[in-house]
Amino acid sequence: MIMESFGLEKYIEEHLNSARNHLQIFKYKGLGDKTEETLGFKPHIDRQFLTILCQNDVVDGLEIKTKNGEEWIKARPSQDTSFLVIAGASLHLLLNGGVFPPLHQVVITGKKDRYVACLFSPPREGLIINAPEEVVDDEHPRLYKPFDFEAYVKFSNRTNTNTKGRDLSSLKMRDQVRRALEDYGCFEALFDGASAELRKALFEASEEAFDLPLETKLSTKESDEIYKGYVGQVSTIPLYEGMGFDGADSPEVVDELTYKLWPQGNITFSKNVQSFTENLISLDMKVRTMIMQSFGLDKYIEEHLNSAKNHFRLLKYRGLDENTEEQLGLDPHIDRHFLTILCQNDVVDGLEIKTKEGEDWIKAKPSQDSSFLVIAGASLHVLLNGRVFPPLHRVVITGKKDRHTAGLFLLPKEGLIINAFEEVVDGEHPRLYKPFDYNAYFKFTYTDTKKRDLSALKTYCSLSKED
Ligand SMILES: [Fe+2]
Ligand SMILES: [Fe+2]
Repeated sequence: MIMESFGLEKYIEEHLNSARNHLQIFKYKGLGDKTEETLGFKPHIDRQFLTILCQNDVVDGLEIKTKNGEEWIKARPSQDTSFLVIAGASLHLLLNGGVFPPLHQVVITGKKDRYVACLFSPPREGLIINAPEEVVDDEHPRLYKPFDFEAYVKFSNRTNTNTKGRDLSSLKMRDQVRRALEDYGCFEALFDGASAELRKALFEASEEAFDLPLETKLSTKESDEIYKGYVGQVSTIPLYEGMGFDGADSPEVVDELTYKLWPQGNITFSKNVQSFTENLISLDMKVRTMIMQSFGLDKYIEEHLNSAKNHFRLLKYRGLDENTEEQLGLDPHIDRHFLTILCQNDVVDGLEIKTKEGEDWIKAKPSQDSSFLVIAGASLHVLLNGRVFPPLHRVVITGKKDRHTAGLFLLPKEGLIINAFEEVVDGEHPRLYKPFDYNAYFKFTYTDTKKRDLSALKTYCSLSKED
């Protein structure tokens, strides 16, 4: 009936055969004496095509959220022969958004146990769901990429400890992330993990650190470690100073550097750096998981997450003297590593991203307080066979105020050779790059800032002769 109602008669047979049947009986234990109502099942959308629910012998419990998201409707069976039919994400995708997968929850109120029986119809193993042409037109442009149910189940299990990730918005978000990285190489992530207080404390700590005497700052530097400790007084970028924590997820790394800056110790500083870094790391995990899933690379998520190390850096750009015109704080470059997550909430102007067409610089201003900027780097570009774009970006300093920012940089682990996954190589997307050794590439770009763009990357390791 559903297929017919969308004029999809010719696909009925195929669709009916594309689903499995899964019967499940649920019991929700009744509440103890003094217990208020409890959630028996947290709000979620169903992932399969359809759910047919029999809850005739229990009345209260299931609640469905309206499409406008304003109300929960109690889904009580009106009579003895009633079954509740609920559309899931897979049907929503198959019909190009033509049906709505409602958010629903189970609320337990009484002492009585609640027994229900459900028939679920998940897509058959290996089925890739793609909306048929008949439900796509100008008014209803194609909403989703080909959809692999198993991959989606893994995604929603992973992104949610409490069924977050099991709503319509997370499915859309994954698509948005991929599109943003394909078209711009960056996007703004809104993330409440690092509170305004924590950010304030972090940037105060950063000021305190950069205000220390140069000699003290330099004591954090180890000559053979590019990423560790203080960077500054570089003639080509005189406004810039950085303080790097290589492996910032380890408290020892943060403590060691803190003791070099303050031999008497500075608990507040190391606590703030650690706690901020932890938050950024959790955001990174979510973002990179989503990126991998959006390219259908679910089976490599674990491997990829483990292939990067966390580098945290405090950055300062000195404000300009009186009467100085704007000045470059950092020359145009692409990032060399996998990903950068940048917090620049307390400064507005500065960072600019070049569009893919290479015509405009876009000012990357945070739109709100909880915003972080995610930027793809050369290593991710190579890993995904060029599918994500590593954007050229620069920092332009205009005012007198010092600019403090902080970022998490995901670097390929020592010795990792990056090779694009087979899954992102096909006739339309031939393999672009030779196996890529991050350290060797780093050395290649190190001495000459002109080598910090996409064409130099191609010169360095492209497989194609024209490049
Ligand atoms: Fe459900
Ligand atoms: Fe950068």
